[in-house]
Amino acid sequence: MPKNAVITGWGFYAPTRVMTNFDFEKIVDTSDEWITSRTGIKERRFAADGESTSTMAVRAARLALERAKLRPQDVQLVIVGTCSPDYLFPATACIVQSELGATRAGAFDVEAACTSFVTALGIARGMISSGTVENALVVGAETLSRLLNFKDRGTCVLFGDGAGAVVVEASNASVGVESVVLHSDGSKGELLMVEAGASRLPASKETVELGKHLITMQGGEVFKLAVKSMADAAEEALREAGLGLEDIDLMIPHQANIRIIEGVAKRLRFPMERVFVNIQRYGNTSAASIPIAMAEAEATGRLARGDKVLLVAFGGGFTWGAAVLEWFGAHDGVRAQSALDRARDALEDVVDRVRPL
Ligand SMILES: CC(C)(COP(=O)(O)OP(=O)(O)OC[C@H]1O[C@@H](n2cnc3c(N)ncnc32)[C@H](O)[C@@H]1OP(=O)(O)O)[C@@H](O)C(=O)NCCC(=O)NCCS
Repeated sequence: MPKNAVITGWGFYAPTRVMTNFDFEKIVDTSDEWITSRTGIKERRFAADGESTSTMAVRAARLALERAKLRPQDVQLVIVGTCSPDYLFPATACIVQSELGATRAGAFDVEAACTSFVTALGIARGMISSGTVENALVVGAETLSRLLNFKDRGTCVLFGDGAGAVVVEASNASVGVESVVLHSDGSKGELLMVEAGASRLPASKETVELGKHLITMQGGEVFKLAVKSMADAAEEALREAGLGLEDIDLMIPHQANIRIIEGVAKRLRFPMERVFVNIQRYGNTSAASIPIAMAEAEATGRLARGDKVLLVAFGGGFTWGAAVLEWFGAHDGVRAQSALDRARDALEDVVDRVRPL
């Protein structure tokens, strides 16, 4: 019988180095007023020397595992959503798997830019409900500061670093991740990209001199498509879950720009009071933004057991998607009994029975 996929653990890590809009006034021709009014961003975090996507992912993942009371050696799958991996290969997920000691887990990265976390959640849900795995660690992690062109004021002020993680587990409970919808339009890929450094345009002295190994974006075009696509995906995910917007307690959108978020809410006629926003403190952390927001929403009392949550994302590719889930909270009583669990319980029973003898 297909199992439901339930989030049983969550955690995030934001690097300690804060870059305010005033710091950017010293780097490019910009102002706190321009950045705040056009994007809603006041500050973002940048990774320290020695930190990278995998190190931040590991910190977020440890918190999520602790919350789920799941031992690293019991994790069956590690998926890292990222467009700023440690290396082209090996996958960042393999580095995370090794650092955690998740010795029995398969591991791979998912690259769908800012939609990577929703995409990875959809894969985890599919593999859990088909019975392929009993649990998955799903991480969104980015070190976009290393891909920013600090001579391009139109992009460098927008992005930040960080990581968020969730544990997803098979459950016989009737709730969980209720729908995931994904879409793409590869014909728009050039509007938001890192052009050089891979097989089509390998890194060279020239590509580096021209800054082609860094993010380029036509922001206006991205903006226009993001609002409509996110709103459409949200409605589709709700239809698939058999719910309406009135059922949703909290929308957690990808944090790209407060005007995009407000545009989506307006188009859906969804009240901003029920939209979680933390872009002012982190900027756009791409794949990490939704799991960071989810963990912060929980920590600040915006998420309670039974709440219906709508996730919605848009990013380079172009890619976009949405998910509907019911927040379960702590793992107790959720975990479906695996063969291993059953064996462990049976052994404990035997030990209990022979102990008094
Ligand atoms: C990038 C973005 C904030 C720009 O806002 P905008 O209102 O569209 O601004 P424009 O691009 O039209 O630029 C207007 C002017 O501001 C200038 N400008 C751009 N960045 C600036 C900055 N950091 N500081 C000051 N001025 C800036 C531009 O050079 C332009 O000047 P010009 O008219 O003299 O040429 C906006 O397009 C956006 O958020 N797009 C979506 C980006 C995004 O979220 N991408 C990720 C998706 S996952």
